Amino acid sequence: MPEETTSRPHIVTCTAPVNIAVVKYWGKRDEDLILPISSSLSVTLHQDQLKTTTTVAISTSFKVDRMWLNGKEEDITHPRLQSCLREIRRLARKRRNDGEPDSTESTGLSHKVHICSVNNFPTAAGLASSAAGFACLVYSLAQAFGVEGDLSGIARQGSGSACRSMYGGFVQWIMGNRDDGKDSIAQQVEPESHWPELRILVLVASAKRKPIGSTSGMQTSVQTSVLLKHRAESVVPHRMDKMIKAVQKRDFAAFAEITMKDSNQFHATCLDTYPPIFYLNSVSQQIIHLVHRYNGHYRESRVAYSFDAGPNAVIFTLQQHVPEFVRVVQHFFPPDTNGEDFIKGLPVKGAAISEELKEAIGLEPTPNGINYIISTKAGPGPCIIEDSSQHLLSPDGFPKKAL
Ligand code: DP6
Repeated sequence: MPEETTSRPHIVTCTAPVNIAVVKYWGKRDEDLILPISSSLSVTLHQDQLKTTTTVAISTSFKVDRMWLNGKEEDITHPRLQSCLREIRRLARKRRNDGEPDSTESTGLSHKVHICSVNNFPTAAGLASSAAGFACLVYSLAQAFGVEGDLSGIARQGSGSACRSMYGGFVQWIMGNRDDGKDSIAQQVEPESHWPELRILVLVASAKRKPIGSTSGMQTSVQTSVLLKHRAESVVPHRMDKMIKAVQKRDFAAFAEITMKDSNQFHATCLDTYPPIFYLNSVSQQIIHLVHRYNGHYRESRVAYSFDAGPNAVIFTLQQHVPEFVRVVQHFFPPDTNGEDFIKGLPVKGAAISEELKEAIGLEPTPNGINYIISTKAGPGPCIIEDSSQHLLSPDGFPKKAL
């Protein structure tokens, strides 16, 4: 943060990605610090398709901290937002003072923040907007206050999965075992360039808000599910090792099997929760059948599915299989819209599918079961936007009219 001679706000804009866990996080051992009961591993999605953009302005002339989300002013007193703000200010103070007694003027403590954030995808579509949102908030605040180093431990206090959006490529969140959470951080396993053929298709099954949020859902699971306890103690540690090796070796068959088994076990713990939680709907179940029958037809794992706390399917596959698989999805979930509107993101070539394949899958087509597909790949972590015309706040630090 530069020394100020006037009260003109200091403004920065950053973007951050969505991530999809292939070894899922479900359950906390500490609700306030957001410490998990097991480690997890995710793939960071490319920001060309899915991202949050956040502008942070800091100034001594602002009266209070304020925040606008997708054009609407939000309550800044939310405890998780407050945790992130407090931790960034604490680091800024530590860095500036370097052991010296506190001096509010030079540490930015007297500066209030204005935060403005937008997603380039529908928030309610259940596409992990809180992970990208908190990662972007923490990264932008750190830039504004001149804080460096690993920030995943702060993003984690906004939303657990957000810590994994602080890095690109393949990222693990190491659960840690300290009570203060200092060792519960995210680490990059491999960068996004490691596996260039890997493709990700988000099958948006429903644009409705999910029935039970992850936070309360996992709380009930921790309290009631013996399967979740078994999973955390005896399944995930082993699975993390196997998944890291599969990623390092770019072994798609192993990656696919662990991804699907882990998604299924997560949803099994939801059913084992009392009262049970259902995130999958009939379309999700049809996609699960479709993927297994597709792989069965070819006698190899070409495609894998993963579902989070909602009915959308995330499909992992290799570039060479994308055109045919997308065609299969389009055949069994015929959309009203034409092909162009149905497929967003990375372009997908046309392909034909054989009668044998259709028969092998053998599902009754469900018109409009899937709204659209977002075609994407692994991508980088948070980025700084240097072009000041991209700021979401005008030079006075208030949202631009166009929002
Ligand atoms: C199913 O990170 O949204 O997507 O820490 O309470 O904010 P909080 O939960 P959140 O949970 C994500 C759960 C998941 C699995 C995952 O991303 O690992």
